[in-house]
Amino acid sequence: MASRDPSGHALHRETLAVRLSVERSQYGENSEALYLTSGYVQPSAEASARRFAGEDEGYTYGRTGNPTVTSFEQRLAALEGTEACMATASGMAAVMLMCFSLLKAGDHVIISQSMFGSTLKLIGTEFARFGVDTTVVPQTDLAAWRAAVRPGTRLLFAETPTNPLGEVCDIQALADMAHGNGALLAVDNCFATPVLQRPVERGADIVMHSGTKYLDGQGRVMAGALCASAAMVRDKFLPVQKNSGMVLSPFNAWVVLKGLETLDLRMKAQSAQALALARWLESHPAVGRVYYPGLASHPQHELAMRQM
Ligand SMILES: Cc1ncc(COP(=O)(O)O)c(C=O)c1O
Repeated sequence: MASRDPSGHALHRETLAVRLSVERSQYGENSEALYLTSGYVQPSAEASARRFAGEDEGYTYGRTGNPTVTSFEQRLAALEGTEACMATASGMAAVMLMCFSLLKAGDHVIISQSMFGSTLKLIGTEFARFGVDTTVVPQTDLAAWRAAVRPGTRLLFAETPTNPLGEVCDIQALADMAHGNGALLAVDNCFATPVLQRPVERGADIVMHSGTKYLDGQGRVMAGALCASAAMVRDKFLPVQKNSGMVLSPFNAWVVLKGLETLDLRMKAQSAQALALARWLESHPAVGRVYYPGLASHPQHELAMRQM
């Protein structure tokens, strides 16, 4: 389905979150079909060869593509405002795919010390074994990020707000810093989701997701994604994904696709409840400190209100 209505008007994000998908099947189903298949019947040996070589469009094998997964990718890209998206088996598979696709021995990465623990271990420890050097900096200290930049810096990777303390960093400032030094900025947007924050609108190059969290929203399946330009998805992520197999299962894609339909409503309701709860906790005599970016007492409250 196109992102415009029949008279050419752009559809709202909330509409795309419900409607955007690959073409309906011949049965005209209202809810997107769940294509549980590992392979696809090919029209001819020649057509199959062209598809496998990437010269023609068309599905060949489950590790290289699936229509239900494509629907999830199209919908999340529309919500994030990126040209394309690549789904992965989990959030950590998304981090893995990004690093495998973009980094090589000798490259340097800067990440915040407040990032999700597995992200810190995967990049800081596992990729170190392959010669990728990482500097870990305080999340909100822009001067520390700047001081860490060096000629081999290829990637700045931030999570904002962080899990679980809700520290917020300035996406635009980090994007400017990355681009001024020939590097890319990736943002883990797992906690905010595109309903509350769209990092590419502030200069980020890659938006990473754990779909396991709010995108599904009901604790059912693991999922992940990288949203980026069409060129980056096609030329960097796809070749690695095709050969490494960290793919999202069609069933999980379908579940998260359904989750995206209610994402807007859920995020707004959750945020309203969270703010009410945070205010109540802040006024409670037994509570020492409350970490919530929506509270005026949060150290990055003003920044959070500006970029979220
Ligand atoms: C902020 C953040 N990023 C990434 C991940 C990893 O995602 P997954 O558990 O889907 O691999 C998590 C998981 O809790 C997370 O909270």
